[in-house]
Amino acid sequence: MKQDQSKTPAMEGEVFYPPKNITRRANVKDYDQLYKQSIEDREGFWAEQAKRLKWYKKWDKVLDDSKKPFYKWFVGGKINIIQNAIDRHLHTWRRNKLALIWEGEPGDLRTFSYHALNREVSKFANILRSMGVKKGDIVTIYMPQIPELAFSMLACAKIGAAHSVVYGGFSVEALAERIADAKSRVLVTADGGWRRGKINDLKNIVDEAIKRSPTIESCIVVKRTGQEVYMESGRDFWYHDLITLPIACTNGCETEKTDAEDPLFILYTSGTTGKPKGLVHTHGGYSVYTSTTHNYVFDIKEEDRWWCAADPGWITGHSYIVYGPLINGATVMMYEGAPNYPYPNRWWQMIEKYGITILYTSPTAIRGLMRFGDEWPKRYNLSSLRLLGSVGEPINPEAWRWYHTVIGDNKCPIMDTWWQTETGGFLITPLPITPLKPGSATKPFFGNEVAVVDDNGNEVKTGEEGKLVIKSPWPGMARTIYGDPDRFIETYWKDFEKQGWYKAGDSARVDKDGYYWIIGRIDDVIKVSGYRLGTAEIESALVSHSAVSEAAAIGLPHELKGNAIHAFVILKAGTEATPQLANELRNHVASEVGPIAKPEDVTFVDTLPKTRSGKIMRRVLKAKALGQDVGDLSTLEE
Ligand code: PRX
Repeated sequence: MKQDQSKTPAMEGEVFYPPKNITRRANVKDYDQLYKQSIEDREGFWAEQAKRLKWYKKWDKVLDDSKKPFYKWFVGGKINIIQNAIDRHLHTWRRNKLALIWEGEPGDLRTFSYHALNREVSKFANILRSMGVKKGDIVTIYMPQIPELAFSMLACAKIGAAHSVVYGGFSVEALAERIADAKSRVLVTADGGWRRGKINDLKNIVDEAIKRSPTIESCIVVKRTGQEVYMESGRDFWYHDLITLPIACTNGCETEKTDAEDPLFILYTSGTTGKPKGLVHTHGGYSVYTSTTHNYVFDIKEEDRWWCAADPGWITGHSYIVYGPLINGATVMMYEGAPNYPYPNRWWQMIEKYGITILYTSPTAIRGLMRFGDEWPKRYNLSSLRLLGSVGEPINPEAWRWYHTVIGDNKCPIMDTWWQTETGGFLITPLPITPLKPGSATKPFFGNEVAVVDDNGNEVKTGEEGKLVIKSPWPGMARTIYGDPDRFIETYWKDFEKQGWYKAGDSARVDKDGYYWIIGRIDDVIKVSGYRLGTAEIESALVSHSAVSEAAAIGLPHELKGNAIHAFVILKAGTEATPQLANELRNHVASEVGPIAKPEDVTFVDTLPKTRSGKIMRRVLKAKALGQDVGDLSTLEE
């Protein structure tokens, strides 16, 4: 590959080489060699990585693939992620190192050393234990981005219970469904969170959701925003009251000695039916995978200040705000609010103020800040930055170049990491030593064999679009869908059952240099501002409205959000199609699912394109809306 400094959109020809000061210190020096080694001896590679962690008992077997696709890793091993993310640091100088720097949207600041983090987590773990929470339970957490969100996750893990974090931007129905599926008895929440100077009134949503959730016995509420909230006697407890009880403050809290394959958390994500899928991740493999990827890809060093500007309510926050970085003993930055509040300088100000060295965010956030112009970042000294990262959707070359030039001063390589809730950590990603092409996630991470294939599993030609598959297992992979192993097989493994490959649900192409270019989802998932939503969730919210008979939702390209939701609705006979009703339906979706799911527009139609078996052909709607060829219509009913 030749270096080409041209700024033309000829994406594949544009290559950026990492600067010497980065490659010299990189944690990996030779990708090709280590990749080859990791493929030739995958188990050996992962065993080597696992040795960097502390185990109560070493594993008997690295990989058990006797019940594919229900792979097990580090079988027989005993480990708790907390033993690695907190406990072991307490015996080293890291005890006094900052684990967490947190800034609230109103500007309040809280910091925690690893010692202090342990205190907080232990206190809350003691409370959960005293409430009878134990291994086998799933605690639902519905919170703003405040330190207690991380404490709650870590406290569950410490006592061997699993957590299910529901993103604080979700609404009543989405929360109630996830509580019901997890059968949670305990819910941890807050009175509210700050977003753009306003209170996101979480407790109100919780009260509504609990009415639909008979399993909830106790609700623990963090006081964050301070407005008056309803507290039901005997059910609702203030977090600050509980953690000052003598039982919370007893001498420490023993970390449960969990099995490597014990569930650490369940994270719900959208799929092809309205019911969200609870993906299960475990203590052992996930600890190894998140810490290894974080270490190699973001080249973490003791002096780094790491900022992953995602929400802990999504997998990015689980893997790369909370678990991976804490296992690596990093200093983690966390921010509560909107990037442009009160002004579009907020992020740049925080980078300067805290001396952030690595920033990991989404293309949507970059595009959103880019539109305010270069003046905002240029007022700040961003020279502490060493590496940048991107995740959640393909990054368009314009945003990539702006990020690289204006934020990174042309000296910070951008790690465009491709992965999913299902994968637990990065699967296709550059390393700091990788020559970069804007818009490409570059090459597979160690141990992973990846391909782009047609429906029969044949590799497509160089440059052609096909389905992205993962041909080999990795320790961070989700183990199953909670309570629905058949759906796990059906969704991810059925299409390439013969070959035993994992279907990612994305389309992609590979260029002549073996670089992967992710194109986007090819299933019924829409990525809006990097957030993952299922068409079915939006459609079921629409049909839950009394005026709606049938509905279809599609994603269409949007300059800032990547994709935006457009809805097509058939009304019940006798209902008048008015602009007011269209608006009401948009708001109805927002209040059922969450503001991120609010459709851009609602179009009233008389029919929807369907197959003979009654399945809505969303691709036909999409092609029509985009003025494209609608393709093969032989399966269309009418
Ligand atoms: O379509 C891909 C897109 O995000 C999907 C996974 O979404 P989710 O489970 O919410 O996880 C997001 C954070 C890991 C993928 O199937 N995606 C993620 N990262 C990238 C991406 N698309 C292109 N480039 C990426 N770097």
